[in-house]
This record gives sequence, structure tokens and C-alpha cells, in this order.
Amino acid sequence: MSSTPVRVALLGAGTVGAAVARRLADRAEVFAGRVGAPLELTGIAVRDLGRPRDLSGVLPGLLTDDPGSLVDSADVVVEVMGGLQPARGLIERALAGGADVVTANKQLLAQHGVEIEALAEREGRSVAYEAAVVAAVPVMRTVRDALAGDEIRSISGIVNGSTNYVLDMVARLGVPFQDAVQQAGDRGYLEADPTEDLEGLDAAAKIVLLARAAWGVQVGMEDVQREGITGLTDADFEEARGTGQVIKLIASAWCSGPAADRRVEVAVRPTLVGAEHPFGLTREGTNLVIIDAESAGTLRLSGAGAGGDETASAVLGDLVNLARARVRAREAD
Ligand code: NAP
Ligand code: HSE
Repeated sequence: MSSTPVRVALLGAGTVGAAVARRLADRAEVFAGRVGAPLELTGIAVRDLGRPRDLSGVLPGLLTDDPGSLVDSADVVVEVMGGLQPARGLIERALAGGADVVTANKQLLAQHGVEIEALAEREGRSVAYEAAVVAAVPVMRTVRDALAGDEIRSISGIVNGSTNYVLDMVARLGVPFQDAVQQAGDRGYLEADPTEDLEGLDAAAKIVLLARAAWGVQVGMEDVQREGITGLTDADFEEARGTGQVIKLIASAWCSGPAADRRVEVAVRPTLVGAEHPFGLTREGTNLVIIDAESAGTLRLSGAGAGGDETASAVLGDLVNLARARVRAREAD
């Protein structure tokens, strides 16, 4: 066990960031054992220092509104502030300065992840983002690592927790649409800009990241055939109910054509599914991803797709792995 800590800078203390900070404080000894050195939280960058937030157990005095200085002194930067800027600039500054990065920011990765990963590679650093896709469920690892020896044919899923919560509340409990959106926000499921969820942009970013991992192709947000859930009417829900079906926001990616001329398509759209289908039975903020692979057959991964503690689980998993690799590299030097 090394006594030299791994210095961790946390960017953001909202739904996810506050949960990460609390867990780092609560479980300091456990994480130190897993990493082989203490994880030292050196600071937490926020926008509004005066905003009330639950950081129980976290050392006082860690909050700052100067994320740049925090990044410059870190070994690992955890970006959970969201948005394109300043998140992108701070991540690039971290990588250029020799830090590794954990991020849950799917919009940034879907739009600029190729450049960010290229920079990480040039700098010999890592960017980990399991939390960006289906929060607590290790679907990125499954697609990118566990199935690296197989041929994935298609991926389809409920990959957005808030819209699944809304659709479920409206269909199953008759909650008015806007009230269900409010409840999803109260649970910490919605993005800072809820239109990202409701218009399918959040699901689109996730399916883009999954398609890139599955097939190594440069699909982007502009390639997604996308429709959100705001155009759904009471009549649509009635009609679904009348035929024993429910409406789900399904994201899908599929690959066709020969290896030399592979065509990958990606879509997000409200879809009618049987009420007893695994998608139909996926309730509240739960997500379900179904992967069809040539040798493995059909795999189903299901679990919490949103929420502070649930997302923190994936963020912390990436953090422990990156910190452990740094400690090993330090010992090998
Ligand atoms: P959030 O509750 O809105 O929190 C964002 C945090 O970042 C806040 O603490 C905010 O500061 C801080 N921040 C934002 N802009 C900043 C700036 N310019 N400078 C300094 N600090 C800034 O968001 P969240 O729900 O935790 O989500 C964070 C990220 O995780 C997003 O990329 C989101 O897509 C992703 N994610 C979220 C979930 C989920 O279930 N919520 C799941 C998976 C992934 P203040 O507190 O002072 O406003
Ligand atoms: N807003 C996102 C969702 C958070 O509802 O799924 C998790 O990525």
C-alpha cells in the first residue's frame, strides 16, 4: 500500500457529483485498499458556491469556482458538470497536463469524443466513460471489451431513464405527462436541459457511443434518425392500451452488409411494444439493452439508467480502475 495519494479533482456537485463526493468520503478506506493508495479529493468545482447541497461526510472547504486550478494539480479528473463547455476545455487541459479523466458526459463524447480520445492517446492518458451510457449498467464494457471477440449484429434498448419513467407513469398510472416530467426531475433523472431527454437527444448520444464501440465506425449525432416523446398525444397512449401494447422510447443500432462494406444505422423513436415484452415490462427509471451477437446470441443487460447514487457507482468504478493503473505504473517506474 503506497502512502502517496492519487489526487482526484471533481468537476460538478449536482445529482451525480454530490453522490460521488459522499461515497468517496464514506468509503475512503475501502477505495484505498482497492487502489493500493488513498484517493485524495483535492477539490470540487461548482458554478454557484452558495447553492445548498448535500455533501454530508465530505471535508469542508473543498468547494471552488476555479475548476482550472483544480484540474492542473490532479492525477485523475472526474467531470460531472455536463454541457459542452467548459467541460471540453477542462478535460483537454487535464489530459494535456498528464491527468486521466472520468466523465459521464454523453453529449460531449458523442459530439467531440473522437478528438478527446485522440488527444488522450497522444498524451498516453485514458478517458473512461462507463457512466455516460446507461448509468449503473456496464453496457459500454460489455460491448467494447467483453464482446471484442464476437460480431455484434444489433443493439436495441431503453437507454433513457427519465423518458421511460414518464412513459411508464402516463401509461400505467395515468399520471398527466407534465406531472410525470416533474417527478422525473425530482428523482434526479433529467438533464440540466430536459429537452435533451424529451426530444431523444440523450438517447441518441448513447446509441452513437454504443455503435462506435460495437463497430468502430464514426457515426455521429447527425446520423441518428431521431424522434422524441413530446409529440405523443393522449390518443396515442389510448390506442396502445387498447391493443395490449405500451409506447417505449427505443434506441437501436444495427449493422448490415459485408465486412468490407459495412453499413451502420442508428435510430431513436417511440415504438409500440407488447406490454409483456421485456421492453414493455421495463418500468420507471430502469433501462434495458438487448445485444444480438453472432456467437454469444442474445444478451440482456438491465438496471438503473439514471439517478445520483446509481450513476456514481459507474463513475467510481472507472475512477478506481484508472487510479489503480496509475499506482501500478508509479510502482513500475
Ligand atoms: P447537475 O445536477 O445539473 O449538476 C451539474 C454540476 O456541475 C453542478 O454542481 C453545477 O454547479 C456544476 N457546473 C455546471 N456548469 C459548471 C461550470 N461552468 N463551472 C463549474 N461548475 C459547473 O447534473 P447531473 O445530473 O449531476 O449530471 C452531470 C453529468 O452526468 C451530465 O453530463 C449528465 O449527462 C451525466 N449523467 C447524469 C445522470 C443522472 O442520472 N443525473 C446519469 C448519467 C450521466 P452548481 O451546483 O453550482 O450549479
Ligand atoms: N437524463 C438521463 C436519463 C440521465 O434520463 O437517462 C442518465 O444518462
